[in-house]
Amino acid sequence: MSQDENDNSKLWGGRFSESTDEFVERFTASVNFDKRLYRYDIQGSIAHARMLAKVGVLSDAEFAQISSGLEAIQADIESDKFNWDVGLEDVHMNIEAALTQRIGDVGKKLHTGRSRNDQVATDIRLYVRAEIDKVAAQIDELQAALLDVAEREAETILPGFTHLQTAQPVSFGHHMLAWFEMLDRDYQRLLDCRKRVNLSPLGAAALAGTTFPIDRNYTAELLGFDAPTANSLDSVSDRDFAIELAAAASLIMTHLSRFSEELVLWTSAQFDFIELPDRFCTGSSIMPQKKNPDVPELIRGKSGRVTGHLVSLLTLMKSQPLAYNKDNQEDKEPLFDLLDTLKDCLYAYSSMMPALICKRENMRSATLKGYATATDLADYLVKKGVAFRDAHEVVGSAVVAAIAANKDLAELSLSDLQGFHADIAEDVFDVLTLEGSLNARDHLGGTAPRQVKAAVARSREKLQRR
Ligand code: ARG
Repeated sequence: MSQDENDNSKLWGGRFSESTDEFVERFTASVNFDKRLYRYDIQGSIAHARMLAKVGVLSDAEFAQISSGLEAIQADIESDKFNWDVGLEDVHMNIEAALTQRIGDVGKKLHTGRSRNDQVATDIRLYVRAEIDKVAAQIDELQAALLDVAEREAETILPGFTHLQTAQPVSFGHHMLAWFEMLDRDYQRLLDCRKRVNLSPLGAAALAGTTFPIDRNYTAELLGFDAPTANSLDSVSDRDFAIELAAAASLIMTHLSRFSEELVLWTSAQFDFIELPDRFCTGSSIMPQKKNPDVPELIRGKSGRVTGHLVSLLTLMKSQPLAYNKDNQEDKEPLFDLLDTLKDCLYAYSSMMPALICKRENMRSATLKGYATATDLADYLVKKGVAFRDAHEVVGSAVVAAIAANKDLAELSLSDLQGFHADIAEDVFDVLTLEGSLNARDHLGGTAPRQVKAAVARSREKLQRR
């Protein structure tokens, strides 16, 4: 193709003598997915242009034209009047081309002292920052919902498990507070990650900085960043912040997946501890009796998807030489999808939690089945002067006998129990009850309802202070 056959419609077309291959155009374009960054792209461009005017590279009139042109473009995009063109590759060049079309040659000055490399890095950081704030607010909401359930169910007793075998009685509220703590760490992790997100790469230009007298502190400030990044090469190539977010998101999803596994178990006929409202469940096309916990199941499944995106991002970065490489364009789809997925799953949990129905009687009878107070009997003997290991042995024999008699420990007679140890007295029945067992664990972090209520109050204050 000769020079005049070159359609030269590309913003970088000057060096090229033939048009881009159709496949290559499609293969290298990102606009179909990165267009969702438009708001941040425009925000970054306005800040950049304002800075150029401040340092005298643009006149104030030029800045005013650029800035109102960009605002008009944003309005077009938001009212679905903008024509996205794959031929223009990405969100950045689509918007820049539209600007020039709208305001004329002044639009061509916007890209002075800037590159798409620092531009895209800025856009993603602005996007990730906004998303972190949304996710953090959602976690906060879910935590508050868990506290309500914890308070309501502080006295509700269910079997606590280790190895999924009945271990000791615990308060359902206490169980909800365990979930609360997981989410609390998730919240802290997001805030910590946000510190490294909230730095401005703008001004790094392609990789080495620019020859114009730019003011990076000013653009950082305009965009609400804490500071500019320190090194231009690192600025355009770094996606650590996205990986950190993906890691934090994967851990949140791991937690939601664990919660989901419990909800799935608890709704089964075998456990039958809780009921999820019909609106969160689906039926079976063949088995009329079925009410399936699809939402928790799907959330459990989606945890794999989010962790997969974390692995994609790590792998994407692992062999990249400095500075920017086109590989980085592949950061967006995993990032977008993991955030969309995460937000949906958190939304599902916040909606489900207040509607959780606890089947208290079923939890109680399940707790009575598994010799959950055996440790309490051992502790009782220790308080009578028996060494713990000996007490453990004695109670083990009592449990074997109770199993043979098909009775709970509390159903054995005093003389039966005294057959295992002479120091056992009438007061043993206080510790063999579920309430006795629960109330006895009355220390910070313990499952006594009194402690659960105190923990709820402390946690509420913590949420208030955020
Ligand atoms: N669409 C590109 C990306 O997402 C923007 C930066 C392109 N830079 C370049 N030098 N080709 O990474």
